[in-house]
Amino acid sequence: MGNIKIFGPILNGVLAFPIFLAVLSDMANAGYPTPVEADWIAHDFVFHTGEVFPSLRIHYTTVGKSSGLPVLLLHGTYGSGKNFLSATFADLLFGPGQPLDAETYFIIMPDGLGCGGSSKPSDGLRTSFPRYNYLDMVNAQHLLVTEGLGIKHLRLILGNSMGGMHTWLWGVTFPDTMDALVPQASQPTAMASRNWMLRRMQVEMVIQDPAYMGGNYTVQPPSLKLANVFFGIATSGGTLAWQAMAPTSELADKLVDARLAGAGPADANDWAYQWTSSKDYNPSAGNGLERITVPVLAINSADDERNPPESGLEAAALQRVKNARLFLIPASVDTRGHGTTGNATFWKNQLATFLLSLPTSGGLYK
Ligand SMILES: *[C@@H]1O[C@H](CO)[C@@H](O)[C@H](O)[C@H]1NC(C)=O
Ligand SMILES: *[C@@H]1O[C@H](CO)[C@@H](O)[C@H](O)[C@H]1NC(C)=O
Repeated sequence: MGNIKIFGPILNGVLAFPIFLAVLSDMANAGYPTPVEADWIAHDFVFHTGEVFPSLRIHYTTVGKSSGLPVLLLHGTYGSGKNFLSATFADLLFGPGQPLDAETYFIIMPDGLGCGGSSKPSDGLRTSFPRYNYLDMVNAQHLLVTEGLGIKHLRLILGNSMGGMHTWLWGVTFPDTMDALVPQASQPTAMASRNWMLRRMQVEMVIQDPAYMGGNYTVQPPSLKLANVFFGIATSGGTLAWQAMAPTSELADKLVDARLAGAGPADANDWAYQWTSSKDYNPSAGNGLERITVPVLAINSADDERNPPESGLEAAALQRVKNARLFLIPASVDTRGHGTTGNATFWKNQLATFLLSLPTSGGLYK
């Protein structure tokens, strides 16, 4: 979190509060309260495989007072709750007068099961760790919220990418536990097509690498960084933005070189488990979508490589949701394909309007 403490106030300060820069420099994060991290243990957690984990650790970060209106934010694959503490997210949303003002809201950002500081294969079990899926991850989040934090009802669940898919699963699995849903960079339809094929391929590239040693590697297999960079370029960034940034092979090489020079994922088993856990995602199965009655604001980018709107899948699925609407961010050189929604500039006004349109709470959150 060191970087955030340094960059948050400076970025926001220059734009909005130049006079208070010095004063704010020791106050956390662009004028919102200092994030607090903690662990909660779920005892005898049951995976969908039937395996029982005696002590499942769920790491989480919160911003704001626990008496505030509870909001759950769900991160993307190979991320953690702290991803939201960025210049393009928290600095645009959590401050005074901003849409998720931490004076009003209690913001809860869990690390998904298998991710960040939560229990994961690299803790020691490696490939003996249960093969979790998205429903296991959502069940763990639900236990954290209800048992760990004693919250009966959430004002809002907002998630991006994998977190967007988790948001849809909350809607179909626990439809009475929130006032509203904002799934981003996701579809409420089966994991399939190129999205799954490329997930499968990048995992195959790593687990078929002799250096992976069936999961018993002592150093990370070299294929891990290569596969991760390959998938990132193929499925995020935006067609128009890549063309604008890399109009020649030399400029394209520079972008590739920069990515290859960066740090790869920390652990091959954690990484492979996370991508594989999306395989059976399908909130549209049965009458799942019909169970969602709370207002839904789905936010996708028109150039999302993993959720291409031209498939028509999302539009058709949303017809089944009682009170849903889609904000489709038009593609431009400014959008970043699947990565677009990570920058709240593109949708914070729509979120603010949506939150104002929600019926006021009955105060039954705790
Ligand atoms: C990895 O190590 C574990 C524990 O020593 C062992 O049981 C397992 O067979 C090994 N797997 C492979 C593929 O070598
Ligand atoms: C976020 O999006 C806005 C609007 O396109 C852009 O001006 C800004 O540079 C973006 N921020 C980052 C860090 O990419």
